[in-house]
Amino acid sequence: MRRVVVLGVTILLGCAAYQRGEGLDPATLPSALRPDYELFAQRCSRCHSLSRPLNTRISSDDHWRVYVARMRRMPGSGISPDDVPGLLRFLNWYSAARRSPDGGVGGTR
Ligand code: HEC
Repeated sequence: MRRVVVLGVTILLGCAAYQRGEGLDPATLPSALRPDYELFAQRCSRCHSLSRPLNTRISSDDHWRVYVARMRRMPGSGISPDDVPGLLRFLNWYSAARRSPDGGVGGTR
């Protein structure tokens, strides 16, 4: 019984990296970007924590394109070519927001 409960909790939390204390609070994002962020939170938390992409120095759109392509080609990445436009939309927005003088985003936790 305990195992079942633990499994259920794991599945629930697995969908929301934010609740594990990493990632961004979707409430601080423009609503148009939330679906892209959710996609990013799912696809990019599989092999490392979200803080990896969120805290990296990568800030140009071109660099992100190269990086997402590289992550996608890793064995078992679970990232499909269809995911790429949404992922880049979020990452490019995020980098631009971080570059802005007021820091833009609600900050990583
Ligand atoms: C299949 C596993 C896997 C997935 C999925 C994955 N990554 Fe990675 N990522 C890695 C590994 C392994 C490294 C370290 C080796 C390297 O840098 O190539 C890494 C490193 C990184 C780094 C480098 C951090 C730094 O500051 O140098 C960034 C940025 C990054 N990943 C972003 C992403 C993004 C964005 C996504 C989602 C599109 C993603 N990753 C999905 C495996 C993965």
